[in-house]
Amino acid sequence: MLIKFLLIVASVTLTLSADHGTFKDCTRVDFCTNLRSRTPSDDYSVDSGSLSASIDSNTLTATLKSNNGGLDLTFTLSGLQQNTFRVKITEVDSTRYELQDVLDGEPEGLNFDDVQIGDDSVTVTTASGSNSATVTFSPFNIEFAKDGITEVFFNGDRLTVANNGVTAPFSFGVTFPKGLQLYGIHEHCDSLALQNTGPGGTDPYRLKNSDVVNYELNSPMALYGAVPVIYGQGPTATAGVFLHNAAEQWIETTNNQDGGCQAYFMAEIGTLDVFVLLGPSPTEVVRQYTKLTGIAHLPQLWALGYHQSRYSYETGFEAELVASNFDSHNFQLDALWLDIDYTDAFKYFTWNPSTFSNPVGLQDTLANTNKKLVTIIDPHIKVEDGYSVYDGALANDLFVKNADGTVFEGPCWPGTSSYMDFLNPAAREYYGSMYSYDNFKNTTPTLAGIWNDMNEPSVFDNSLEMTLPADGLHIGNVRHREIHNIYGLLHTMATHQGLLARDNGERRPFVLTRSHFAGSQRYAAFWTGDNTADWPYLHAAFQECLNANILGLVFCGADVGGFLNNPTNELIERWYQAGAWLPFYRSHSSKGTFRREPYVLPEDSQVVVREAMQTKYRHLPVWYTLFYEHTRTGDPIIRPLFYQYPEETDAYNIDGQLLVGTDILVRAVYDAGATEVDVYFPGGENEVWVSVNSDDVQVGTGLVTVPVTREHSPTYYRRGAVIARKDTVRLNTVEMADDSHTLYYTVNEDNTAQGTVYLDDGVSFKYRDESDFKYIRISVDGDTLTFATIDGDGDYEFVVDAIVRRDVVSLPKGGKPGFYKETVFTRVANGELLKNIKIGSNGNVVLKLK
Ligand code: NOJ
Repeated sequence: MLIKFLLIVASVTLTLSADHGTFKDCTRVDFCTNLRSRTPSDDYSVDSGSLSASIDSNTLTATLKSNNGGLDLTFTLSGLQQNTFRVKITEVDSTRYELQDVLDGEPEGLNFDDVQIGDDSVTVTTASGSNSATVTFSPFNIEFAKDGITEVFFNGDRLTVANNGVTAPFSFGVTFPKGLQLYGIHEHCDSLALQNTGPGGTDPYRLKNSDVVNYELNSPMALYGAVPVIYGQGPTATAGVFLHNAAEQWIETTNNQDGGCQAYFMAEIGTLDVFVLLGPSPTEVVRQYTKLTGIAHLPQLWALGYHQSRYSYETGFEAELVASNFDSHNFQLDALWLDIDYTDAFKYFTWNPSTFSNPVGLQDTLANTNKKLVTIIDPHIKVEDGYSVYDGALANDLFVKNADGTVFEGPCWPGTSSYMDFLNPAAREYYGSMYSYDNFKNTTPTLAGIWNDMNEPSVFDNSLEMTLPADGLHIGNVRHREIHNIYGLLHTMATHQGLLARDNGERRPFVLTRSHFAGSQRYAAFWTGDNTADWPYLHAAFQECLNANILGLVFCGADVGGFLNNPTNELIERWYQAGAWLPFYRSHSSKGTFRREPYVLPEDSQVVVREAMQTKYRHLPVWYTLFYEHTRTGDPIIRPLFYQYPEETDAYNIDGQLLVGTDILVRAVYDAGATEVDVYFPGGENEVWVSVNSDDVQVGTGLVTVPVTREHSPTYYRRGAVIARKDTVRLNTVEMADDSHTLYYTVNEDNTAQGTVYLDDGVSFKYRDESDFKYIRISVDGDTLTFATIDGDGDYEFVVDAIVRRDVVSLPKGGKPGFYKETVFTRVANGELLKNIKIGSNGNVVLKLK
C-alpha cells in the first residue's frame, strides 16, 4: 500500500496533464451524451385547467402535460424577495431528493401583486409590478422581466425531465436576451468570461467535485468545488440563474455579442429547482444570490495575514525553526501550517509521537511570538480497531455505506479508510466534537484554524473517478450521486460547528476547505488546490478568485508560488506581489519541491518579497473593512472590472487585474521578464487612477501600456477614495493591532473624497451579537476631514498619525504622462498632533488641515 501512495505522490510532480483516462468527458457520461445531443422540441404544455395562482400568495402551480405520452410534471413558480423568482419542476409523484443545507434558511416569499390569466398565458408580478413572470401555456416557456425588459427566458423546448430511476436526469435551457457575456459556474481553471462550449467549442463545463491532479489551464474540466450559478452580463442588464441541485451537472454555454447568451443545464438527478435573479446590475444580482446562500462572517484578523505552509513540515523542531526564521529575517507570519505528516499514521486528531512529540511546546513557542498554528484534518478515517475516532463512528453508524448497506471502505492517505457521512447531523456533531480540547489532545488555543482537504471526497480509486461510488448510501438511503457536490460543504459545516464549540462560541472559526459548494462561504475560506509553479497559473489565481468572489465565496486564495514543480525566483517574486491582493495569502508547496520559504531566497528576491508581504499588511484596514462590508451586503471583496463598470464591454474579458473593493486597481504581472504590461483603466474621462508606488496618474479610458518595475506590480488608488492604511508594518497582525493609521487620498474635481474604516476586537462575534464595533465614514471636503460613525456601539478609537494627500498636477495628455505631488500632514491646522485627536466617539470629529 505504501508503494502505491508513493507512486501517487511521485505522479503529482511527473505527470504533465490531468488524467483524462480517469476523469470523463461528456462522451463517456451517458446522461451528458444523451441530453447534449437532444434536439430541442416542445415536449410540454401547461394544463390551464390545473392552474392555480392568486394575489394573496406567492405561488403559482400547474400541471405540465407531456405532448408525447411522457409523464406529467408538476410546475411551481414562486415570487421571492429581492427581485427573485423560483421555479420547480418534478414528476407529479416525485420521489426525488430535495436538497438541504445549502440555502441560508428558507427564502422569504413575496406575494404576487397582480395575476393576469389569459387564454394562452398567465402573468404574475411582484414588487409593484416591477418584476414579472409570464408563463406561456403551449409550448411551455417562461419569460422573466424587470421593469418591462425581458432578462431571462426559460426555454421550454429545452426542458426534459426523465422518469424516476437509478439516475433521473433533467435538462433545461435559459436565454439572457440582454446578455453579451456569461460568467459564473465555478470551479474551473479557465478565463473569467465563460467560453463557448458545444459545436466548434469545448466540452460543456462540468460540475462534479473532483480531486484532479495536475489540473489544466483554460479547461471546462470539473475541479474541487461547484457553484451552479450563471450570470448573463450586458451593458444594460445583468441577470442570473442558480440551479439548487448538488448532483453532477454539465452546462453548455453560448455567448452572443449581439445579446442573447444561452446556457443549457444538464443534471444527473435530483430536483429541477431554479432561482431566477433579475438584477438588473451585477451588484444586485450578486446580492440576490448571497441573500439566498449567505455571507462569510468576519474572519479573525490574523487570518488576513500571511500563512506559511508546506507538504510537509516533518517535525515539531522544523516547524519551530521555520517560524523563527521568519522573525529573524523580518518577514511577516501569522500562521504556520501542518500538513498530513504531523499525524500518527494519518489518523486525524492525533500527533505523530516521534516527530511531533511535544505539540504543546510547539504551540507555546508559536504563541510566544504571536503566531497561530493551523493543522489539516481530512474527512476519511483510517480503518483501524482501537483508533477511537474510527471506533466511535462505526459504533454509531456514522459512515457512508455501499449500496448493499455495508460500510464503504476505500484507499486514501491512511490506507483503507471509511468516510464520515456528513449528511447525517449526528455525524457532523460527532466529528465536530473531535475538535474539542479534550478530544483533540495536546492542542491549545494557538491551534486556531483547521484545514479541511480531500473533501470532494477523494478516494484513491481511478475506476470511481477518485471519489465515492455514486450509488453509495448516506443517511435515509440518500444516494451519494444526489449529494456528491455538497460533501465538502457538509464537512466544513461539521468543522465550523466543532470549532465554535471548542471555544464556547467566543472566537470566529477559521476553516480552509478545498471542496465547496454554493453556500460554503458561511463556513470556510477556500483555496484553488494543486496549481502548478508556472506563469499562467499565477494569472489563473486571479481568474478563479474573481469568479469565486462574484459567487459569494469571497475568502479565496491560491498557493503562492504554485504547489507543483519549482518556480523561478522571478515567478516567486511576482506571485508574492499578486497574492498580496487576494483575500487569502498562503504559500504552500508539494513534497519533492525545493524549499522556498521567503528567507531561503537570494537576498535580492527577499527584498522584493518582503515589500510584497508588507503591502498586504499595510492594507489590512482595507481588507478588514471590506470583509465587514461583505457581511452587510454580500458584496465581493475583490471584483472584476465588469462588476464595477458593467457598461464597459471592452473590459469584459479582462481577468488579469482586479479591484479591491471599489478603490484599488491591481494588475498581476504574469509574464516572465515583463518590463511593461497593459492595464485597463475603467470609469471614463472623470475617473482618475493614482499610482501607489510612483507618481503616475491615469485616466479611466481603457488600455494603457505602463512600465513595471521588479519591486511592484501596477497598483492604483481611485481618485476620490480615502484609503486607511497601517504603514508601520510589524511581524504579524497581533503586533499591529493597536497601531495608528495613515490616510491616503486624492480629491475629485469637486474637492471631495470618501472612505470607510471598520474597527472591532478582531476575534469574537461581539460585532454581530452585541454591536461591539465602530464603522466610520471619512469625508474629505477641501481642507476639512469629517469622521462620522455610520454604525456600531463599540468603544474603539481610530488613531490617525499621518495624512498623505496626493494632488494631481497634470493628467496624461498627447503622449505625456500625468503625475501627482504628495503632501504629508502629521498635524492639523492649529498645530495639534493628529495622533492625539480622539476619533471614534459617536459625534462627528472634524479636522482642518490648514
Ligand atoms: C492535497 C492538497 O491539495 C495539498 O495542498 C496537500 O498538500 C496534499 N493534499 C497533502 O495533504
